[in-house]
Amino acid sequence: MAEVQDRVRCQALQKKIVTAEEAAAFFQPNMNVACSGFTSSGYPKSVPLALAARMTKEPFKINVWTGASTGPEFDTALAQVNGIAHRMPFQTSPALRERINSGDVDFVDIHLSEMAQQARYGFFGKADVALIEAAAITEEGNIIPTTSVGNAASYVQDADTVIVEINTAVPAEIEGLHDVYVPLDPPNRLPIPIIRPGDRIGTSFIPCTPEKIKYIVPGGAADTTRSLRPVDELSRRMSEHTLAFFAQEQKAGRLPQPLLPLQCGVGNVANAVVGGFVESDVSQLTVYTEVIQDGMLDLIDAGKLQMASGTAFSPSPEGLARFFKDIGKYKKHLVLRPAEIANAPEVIRRLGVIAMNTAIEADIYGAVNSTHIRGTQMMNGIGGSGDFARNAYLSIFFTPSVRQDGKISCIVPCCPHVDHPAQDVDILVTEQGVADLRGKSPRERAKEIIEHCAHPDYRPLLRDYFERADAATGHAHTPQLLDEAFTVFTRYAQTGTMQSAAPVAESGQSTRD
Ligand code: COA
Repeated sequence: MAEVQDRVRCQALQKKIVTAEEAAAFFQPNMNVACSGFTSSGYPKSVPLALAARMTKEPFKINVWTGASTGPEFDTALAQVNGIAHRMPFQTSPALRERINSGDVDFVDIHLSEMAQQARYGFFGKADVALIEAAAITEEGNIIPTTSVGNAASYVQDADTVIVEINTAVPAEIEGLHDVYVPLDPPNRLPIPIIRPGDRIGTSFIPCTPEKIKYIVPGGAADTTRSLRPVDELSRRMSEHTLAFFAQEQKAGRLPQPLLPLQCGVGNVANAVVGGFVESDVSQLTVYTEVIQDGMLDLIDAGKLQMASGTAFSPSPEGLARFFKDIGKYKKHLVLRPAEIANAPEVIRRLGVIAMNTAIEADIYGAVNSTHIRGTQMMNGIGGSGDFARNAYLSIFFTPSVRQDGKISCIVPCCPHVDHPAQDVDILVTEQGVADLRGKSPRERAKEIIEHCAHPDYRPLLRDYFERADAATGHAHTPQLLDEAFTVFTRYAQTGTMQSAAPVAESGQSTRD
């Protein structure tokens, strides 16, 4: 408790320190609860757990807004007690995913750069309370965030009531990592004055007044981040293809040396690509991304990374411990901003960001599905991938060519759900190779993707499909056999045999092998 009191530097606020249970009693059914938190980083923990405990005895639901996903103490705990009515803009909890796909939770999938502005404009009603994790509260009542900024600053600005969880597991030295700038809304918005990824344009705290803060709750648990899998063979090959592509582009004068700022989606492939940079001879890298992971610490240690800008620091548990241990060193190379600045289309386009994101599947014309398994089941959400893919200098998507022991091809005739249209996808990378889609028509793209990215087992099927679609549509701009497109690979997954994409004959036999 003494440590919490030390971190509440505004004396007038000391009397507002209460238990998580007391704070949880404040919440009412259908409240809009706007929270800090972005990819298992900087999310409140004690109050959601106490609220979930209350909901087991007294069932009710709230609406939850965050920056992106949160950890198990939040989304999973509330999903397990069926305590969420509406959830936006992103999540990764298996328990919550189940609720979303069984209709218990209305999930709203939103580009992360747009969430704060839409909330400020009242698209979802008013934020009843902002629930924010903090490392400290300053003498004036301003809030020092922890491992993410997300939409916390905007939510604090918007809500009349603020509840702060002080997390003493986060070193107080984290102060100074953040750069908080909340833009004015149209028609009064000014250009965001970021010229280089490391530019600081705001304050090191979330502006707040002591009067707004209703409760302060002690918290002492570190973020529950996920361990990274060791880099597997597929990710290593995708990383090698990407680095070779960058080298080729630099040789051709289409990419400068040092490289343009990088954006890396989360997950194992992104981590492998960043790992590839550590081994390579690139230097003076900059990063303008959403989430900063372990690989960035490796790049700093290798002297290859000048500056990384993001909205969340979301490493593995080992990476978090490493960061906390040497926070002074790493802080010089990192800056955390609000999500609407980290993902701002205006800045991404101006800096010339190279965007690297992962797909669930891509079709032969280059459209990408990032969110829906079999076209209907929500996985996580679009996250920031759309903010970056559409506005990047180069938009790269990764996917393994096949999943589930080869039963599923991740290159399909037609995506059953599209998050990124072909216009937003410049380069597709699988472990098989690189499809360079720039300047190519749909029919040219199909050949490039099938020959360079599809798994060899599926190439005959895909070629056959494309040729028949091309003939049947009279060489249409984007040849498709829409009735057939979605059944081909389902049939393959069901039978496990390489049946043809050709229509099934009346006998029930495939017309071709
Ligand atoms: N068909 C069926 N299932 C598929 C599939 C496909 N084509 N592709 C993936 N899956 C399943 C996997 O089998 C796995 O299922 P499991 O959890 O039951 O094992 C699950 O989807 C996740 O696959 P995985 O390989 O672990 O995914 P990943 O870590 O590489 O993430 C995305 C891939 C697309 C889910 C993830 O990148 C994402 O959510 N992207 C959208 C948001 C985003 O891009 N954010 C970054 C912006 S900064």
